[in-house]
Amino acid sequence: MKSYINLATDLTEGILTVTINRENKLNALNRETMFELKEIFQYVQDNSKEIQGVILTGAGEKAFVAGADISAFTAINEMRARRLAEEGQEIFQSIENSHTPVVAIINGFALGGGCELAMAAHIRIAVEGAKFGQPEVNLGLIPGYGGTQRLTQLIGKGKAFEYLMSADMISAGQALDWGLVNYVEADKQTAHTKAVEILSKIMKKAPIAIGLVIDAVNAHFKNGINGYQTEADGFAACFNTQDFKEGVSAFLEKRPANFKGK
Ligand code: COA
Repeated sequence: MKSYINLATDLTEGILTVTINRENKLNALNRETMFELKEIFQYVQDNSKEIQGVILTGAGEKAFVAGADISAFTAINEMRARRLAEEGQEIFQSIENSHTPVVAIINGFALGGGCELAMAAHIRIAVEGAKFGQPEVNLGLIPGYGGTQRLTQLIGKGKAFEYLMSADMISAGQALDWGLVNYVEADKQTAHTKAVEILSKIMKKAPIAIGLVIDAVNAHFKNGINGYQTEADGFAACFNTQDFKEGVSAFLEKRPANFKGK
């Protein structure tokens, strides 16, 4: 795997840990970091045999990601702002649509684009002390990387309005209460252990079926797509896989299944 400037990577037993690595800027997402995220999720897609799970986190104790890099905002006009949002949305969609499960470990601040990045993951684990917020209205802005949509999906319309319009930061405990995260762990190490535990469980299942679960759940939120149809198509497609035959045989033979992703 190539080395990145703003991302640190570690591949251990099929799990790729991707760490946003701009600690002195609280891991703010500048253009280069966004481009590297795009590249690495393409790499994950192209190497799905080798990489069966992804953990996404931020360097240091202080921040997961403190947002899009505000320093770049002074130099852009409406047209470039639209492109920035559309490109950012596309990159985060590639994470959300990834057939490789992605777990975000949220350590410290997850603000603006940081909260949006966490929401693009499939599963979220907050570290005690994490702070979540969409403070864009403090800057005279609104979220641009899908935050208004994913937040509403995750916590519901009433809470999303309050969170987005007040720009208040919420604690890890409140994020758990609101369904913004799946778990809260005491520290980064226990969060990592939890993420590995979850991914290891998923990695024992049939990879094609896992990808089709991701497609079907995401279909619920896509305009003009009938999620029931996506589910039926996915269900049918499984019948053409060797893993389905292996899963049924293993059940009947009372042994663990050995899935191959075929
Ligand atoms: N974009 C660019 N730089 C950022 C940043 C962002 N979103 N968030 C933090 N930084 C930089 C700071 O400018 C500072 O850089 P410097 O040392 O070169 O001056 C460094 O990260 C440390 O941040 P600092 O503000 O000094 O830390 P703090 O502990 O006082 O405050 C925050 C932490 C998160 C409350 C504060 O940094 C903040 O409000 N950040 C912006 C959050 C935001 O609005 N995000 C949404 C963007 S759309």
